[in-house]
Amino acid sequence: MNLINKMVQRAKADKQRIVLPEGTDERTLRAADKILSDEVSKIILLGNPLEIEEKAQQMGLTNIGKAYIIDPKEHIKKREYIELLVELRKNKGMTPEKASKLVEDPLYLSCLMIKNGDADGEIAGAQNTTGDVLRPALQIIKTLPGVKVVSGAFIMYTQTPQYGEDGVLLFADCAVMPNPNAKELASIAVSSAKTMQSLVGVEPKVAMLSFSTKGSAEHEMVDKVREATAIAKEISPQLMIDGELQADAAIVPEVGKSKAPDSAIAGKANVLVFPTLESGNIGYKLVQRLGNAQAIGPVLQGMAAPVNDLSRGCSVEDIYNMVVITANQAIGLKN
Ligand code: ACO
Repeated sequence: MNLINKMVQRAKADKQRIVLPEGTDERTLRAADKILSDEVSKIILLGNPLEIEEKAQQMGLTNIGKAYIIDPKEHIKKREYIELLVELRKNKGMTPEKASKLVEDPLYLSCLMIKNGDADGEIAGAQNTTGDVLRPALQIIKTLPGVKVVSGAFIMYTQTPQYGEDGVLLFADCAVMPNPNAKELASIAVSSAKTMQSLVGVEPKVAMLSFSTKGSAEHEMVDKVREATAIAKEISPQLMIDGELQADAAIVPEVGKSKAPDSAIAGKANVLVFPTLESGNIGYKLVQRLGNAQAIGPVLQGMAAPVNDLSRGCSVEDIYNMVVITANQAIGLKN
């Protein structure tokens, strides 16, 4: 059974409430219809109920009636959410006037629902940019206790079973933090290991990537990766992690042996932590396109409740898969 099928079974056994703020987007509606038909999770759609119902009818969708539809402009908990937003952001200058406008924005409303315990996870991004999806989540839901940063991982299904875990590797951060410092990079490494363990079910072996392997080059960017590796070991002493390693030394056994003979990770890594967002984002796209790998994600990690971002070019299947992943993250966090 492939990974998504396994996650579908897990989601069905413990149905989570997944909120889709882009409730009038056609791909979102199709994905929601299939999720409801397959009974994978509960679905909350945000948007004008009449528009949603009319669209669903025109599109021949027969399951949207099972979704819980909330009109962001007017609903029973509006006042409660305004008060919650003011309370959460009062130190940042949030006033009831500003909050009354923001709660009508589906991207804010979905995060407030999660914070208030009325939903378990959110997926958006079919119509909105990454920044617009992430900002309310970072402001309202925030990180897990002890986690410094939210980051974005891709589960990469490569065509090269000799690398990683039978060709499966996790790459991070490919989506969120442009230039993490050493502490932030260490936090990304620890979160990435947890994602590998909890979503893929594989023992993580983390390589902290650089353009240097164990002192082959000296530069402040290399120092950052070395420091991050040491901090990650302090935060999580059991973690199998090593750095700094070049990408070939991290995943190719022969290169690992020759460049880092004393490393328990070199040549065997299945989690690759990139030193910056530039390298991570460029790296995953090259492997996806040139290497014909399937890239599942970005799976956002480190948030106190799961919120995931879609590409605006996403397909119905991408949204369906992301609901499944988000439901699994929510189950993992509750357990
Ligand atoms: N982890 C945790 N909290 C964070 C993070 C983070 N990575 N980044 C920002 N925050 C918090 C801040 O501390 C702040 O909290 P506060 O308001 O309570 O003090 C809040 O989020 C807002 O922070 P800002 O820095 O003002 O937010 P900004 O508007 O700069 O945006 C964002 C943050 C959206 C994540 C930004 O860094 C960004 O756009 N990153 C790149 C996203 C992107 O375009 N990725 C590539 C595309 S995705 C893809 O190709 C798969």
